[in-house]
Amino acid sequence: MEKYIINGAKKLSGEIKVSGAKNLALKILPAAILSEQDCLINNLPEIEDVQRMVEAMTDLGAKIEQKEKNQYLISTKDINKTVLKPELVKKLRASIMLTGPMLARFGEVTLAHPGGCVIGQRPIDLFLEGFQKLGAQMIENGQTYTLKATKLKGAKIILPKISVTVTENLMMAATLAQGTTIIKNAAMEPEIPALAQYLNQNGAKITGAGTPIINIEGVEKLNASEFNLIPDRIEAGTFIMLGLITNSQITIKNCQPEHLENLLYSLNKAGAKLEIGNNYIKTFPSPLKGTNIITHEYPGFPTDLQAPFTVLMTQAQGLSLIHETIFEGRLFYTDMLNQMGANIIMCDPHRVVVMGPTPLYGRNLVSPDLRAGMALILAALAAKGTTSIENIYQINRGYENIVPRLQALGADIKQI
Ligand code: UD1
Repeated sequence: MEKYIINGAKKLSGEIKVSGAKNLALKILPAAILSEQDCLINNLPEIEDVQRMVEAMTDLGAKIEQKEKNQYLISTKDINKTVLKPELVKKLRASIMLTGPMLARFGEVTLAHPGGCVIGQRPIDLFLEGFQKLGAQMIENGQTYTLKATKLKGAKIILPKISVTVTENLMMAATLAQGTTIIKNAAMEPEIPALAQYLNQNGAKITGAGTPIINIEGVEKLNASEFNLIPDRIEAGTFIMLGLITNSQITIKNCQPEHLENLLYSLNKAGAKLEIGNNYIKTFPSPLKGTNIITHEYPGFPTDLQAPFTVLMTQAQGLSLIHETIFEGRLFYTDMLNQMGANIIMCDPHRVVVMGPTPLYGRNLVSPDLRAGMALILAALAAKGTTSIENIYQINRGYENIVPRLQALGADIKQI
């Protein structure tokens, strides 16, 4: 079983470039199904999750060709199936993003319950409900769902809960529906207006993406074109905390600081010294003080940055209350931080208190999920001694070439 071996407590230096946004890549690829024309995607991160999505689409009959590094040509005109391969759906929760575009273009799609990160129950009820509001019929057969609609019909949809992928899925499906769709209580993550921009440049009529009310006027058909993915704000935020936890001066290049305002607010409160440019952020060694965070849908503090922030707070002076409100199982990795020497008390499955600073020591760890796995790398790079991290598949799912990129900063990390 492959693992990372990390020798910590070393200062880093230099520059690290942020990749294209994973959480946009996993929507732009399915969006290509909405048109019979080919599209060219630039800045596509070459990560396991994207690979799984490519496999799922290829299995349906799409052709996806790498033109250059991070540049892919997508052709979906030969799609000849409407059943998503169950093994692939189980490996990648985001494969649910294929359902909206498939339903809109082919009038039918069948899927098994998706898999993904082990961070709580992660139901799919809101997707199924949303598609039914758009006029689809649902046939349930054990663990399989088939959705059918000769032509989707625009509708007013009020989401009872803010969900990123539900918002995006319904937005995509509604582009080809008959009439107007209004999505209320929509998610506002920056990847949503970016996806809307791609769809609009191909003929869709979407307004309000990036606000809680999105309006979509259905059109007969969509074209396809070239698109550049925005940088991954979660990766950028994680690298900022990497610089801070190792007391290093590093420059995070190719990022969009305006997508990280809530993290930057919390880091500023914690006393972090940062230089923030238009498309870069530079970290400086900073004495930190304990700071509370509460995760919230965008523009609140991102749940995907909760784990690295918690790790950072183990090195801050005083108490930090970390309140995870989005997912119910996303704090259990703190057990591993305690094994490394942290002093973290779990109040309940949604809240932990970190008492810092405490030195961290290298241990043998297993990555529980994508984001917590990356946070363990940060802890290991700050810790004295050697850490091994197993189950690194979970980390490679979301971070491109992470080992060489960290090595380029001077980190002592290798994969064996
Ligand atoms: C997306 C991101 C993920 C991020 C999360 C929250 C992608 C591929 N993933 O995940 O990185 O952590 O947003 O910012 O973009 N829910 C339901 N029923 C549903 C769907 C969701 O109850 O049918 C609940 C979830 O259990 C969760 C909440 O809604 O409690 C928000 O989840 P959601 O925004 O849907 O997360 P994802 O879209 O899966």
